[in-house]
Amino acid sequence: MRVDIVTLFPSMFKGPFEESIIKRAQEKGLLSIHFCNPRQFTYNRHHTVDDAPFGGGGGMVMKPEPIFEAVEKIKEEIKPSKGKVILLSPQGTLFNQEKAKELAKQENLILICGHYEGVDERVREHLAEEEISIGDYVLTGGELAAMVVVDAVARLLPGVLGCENSAKEDSFYSGLLEYPQYTRPAEFRGWKVPEVLLSGNHELIRKWRRRKMLERTLRRRPELLKKVKLSEEDKKLLREIKDNISEFEGKEDR
Ligand SMILES: C[S@@+](CC[C@H](N)C(=O)[O-])C[C@H]1O[C@@H](n2cnc3c(N)ncnc32)[C@H](O)[C@@H]1O
Repeated sequence: MRVDIVTLFPSMFKGPFEESIIKRAQEKGLLSIHFCNPRQFTYNRHHTVDDAPFGGGGGMVMKPEPIFEAVEKIKEEIKPSKGKVILLSPQGTLFNQEKAKELAKQENLILICGHYEGVDERVREHLAEEEISIGDYVLTGGELAAMVVVDAVARLLPGVLGCENSAKEDSFYSGLLEYPQYTRPAEFRGWKVPEVLLSGNHELIRKWRRRKMLERTLRRRPELLKKVKLSEEDKKLLREIKDNISEFEGKEDR
């Protein structure tokens, strides 16, 4: 996948994109990330990318011309562009795992990072095909939001994670939260790993994990359960979990 990021601050991306899994994805040729600074497309002496809002009010608004020219240059470079132009914005659709899965199917993405008071509305109306928010809070710029989107999408690209199944078992992938994970030692400061995980019985382990996924989701994010397609086995497990009121009210059962 090719990702182009339109940003006034490309050096902000250095740390997150030059480490660990995202770094390896680029080295393996599974992901290529490019930056385009709208300041390149300013033709006055001061290379102005922002201006005061029409109608008054505080702060500065990013001008439309440099952003349009940046995106047009990228599209020219990757012709034919099959991807999406996405504006990062606190007013956009909330980003989630479903959206990450959808974006991971694209050949390329163009992400526009706003800054200051945001971008001229014409960018939203006539350039961006989608607006994405990473949460109901306001960041100083779209750069951190773009990093979040690229990170979540990249780990879904085939070959990026060592084990293909690990993304599928993650929280949200199937609509449920993930089961608890343990590693060696089997006992640490007197706290033991659940017996079943040491049993070697794959069917028992599968069932225990499924039960934990349902139980955790019910306790922590019950609204997610309404959107998940539950199997007959899931429904039975859920009934058992709910019936066991004391267990449900108390600490999570191990
Ligand atoms: C300070 S914000 C502008 C907020 C704008 N005045 C508003 O109230 O909607 C500057 C830029 O940060 C980015 N941004 C801020 N919060 C975001 C969020 N929750 N998700 C995605 N991008 C965000 C956007 O690119 C935005 O243009």
